[in-house]
Amino acid sequence: MDNLPPSLLTSLQYVGLATLTWLTVTTASGIYDQILRPSTLSRYHHHHHPDQQPPWALVTGATGGIGFGFAQELCHRGFHLVLHGRNRAKLLQRQAELRVDFPHVQTRILVYDATDLASDIDALATELQDLHLTVLINNLGGDEDLDFPRTEENTFIRTQRVITRNALFTTHLTRILLSQLKRNAPALILNISSIAAYGFPYLTMYSASKGLINSFTASVSAELALDKTGVKMLGLIVGNVSSQGNQSPVSLFTPSSRQLARSALGKTGCAGPMVWAYWPHSLQGLIFWVLPRWMIVRISAAEMGKLKEMAHSKAKVN
Ligand SMILES: NC(=O)c1ccc[n+]([C@@H]2O[C@H](COP(=O)([O-])OP(=O)(O)OC[C@H]3O[C@@H](n4cnc5c(N)ncnc54)[C@H](OP(=O)(O)O)[C@@H]3O)[C@@H](O)[C@H]2O)c1
Repeated sequence: MDNLPPSLLTSLQYVGLATLTWLTVTTASGIYDQILRPSTLSRYHHHHHPDQQPPWALVTGATGGIGFGFAQELCHRGFHLVLHGRNRAKLLQRQAELRVDFPHVQTRILVYDATDLASDIDALATELQDLHLTVLINNLGGDEDLDFPRTEENTFIRTQRVITRNALFTTHLTRILLSQLKRNAPALILNISSIAAYGFPYLTMYSASKGLINSFTASVSAELALDKTGVKMLGLIVGNVSSQGNQSPVSLFTPSSRQLARSALGKTGCAGPMVWAYWPHSLQGLIFWVLPRWMIVRISAAEMGKLKEMAHSKAKVN
């Protein structure tokens, strides 16, 4: 060190100081966003004058998992609720459960199977027209089979189903409901994404769909802010969650669906466009910063191999 020219030493000190400042600011704002920042959800709980229509929220894929968790949490916070799903009997069952737990909340069901998406989806906007809708939770998603195919092993049908369920349904529903949400502003749209948007091997269609959700969220939220619409869109990055489709046991890093929803609703004050929905997942997310991509790809491929084997042995037993 003693042999270094003083000008180089001073420059290195400045670089060190700048790095330390950047790290401190990034860590502090991360901690503030993840733990301390208050939720702004109450902004969207307003009545429509002069007829005093109460605020409604719509949750897609609400018959199970994280979607039902959002439904419970929104009812708990006094929102009236539209539950979307594909199975009428299951929707009625969930509606009955919410009526028992939240007797003061009104509910409605919206039946639409997102598998075979067609232009008839535009008619859904008419079905909801009479409601003072202020919150839309684009939750529907997931992968039906844990078979982790290579890209070329995906059939036409599988490709269509995964991309439609995880990306296209959200895209179209937002497109058709945005005018109504703008009229009802302040309004909020939450889009559920996944760490899979990072681009994992053997999960091509799911990962790519969530990548679309991330870019869609960034574009739409920028447009909404520039136009000063009063509608906020936020994307939520989600790690492993115990749900209807994911039977992992609950632990610190695998919250229950309701825990995840509660935590996600606490993030509405964040700037976005993307934010971690649950703070322990954001800690796991540090790995994406620290480790090189090739290592993450190897680790994730090994994990998927294990899940595939487990799914195969389970299928054999059944
Ligand atoms: N769980 C996780 O570990 C995890 C991790 C990262 C991201 N996420 C994301 O979180 C969101 C919710 O995941 P989840 O694990 O809670 O899912 P889930 O437990 O599998 O529940 C999916 C919900 O969507 C409904 N649904 C499925 N296909 C449908 C279709 N074609 N039309 C209409 N409704 C349909 C299901 O209805 P039925 O009851 O009729 O099946 C159910 O209500 C997804 O966007 C997922 O990608 C989850």
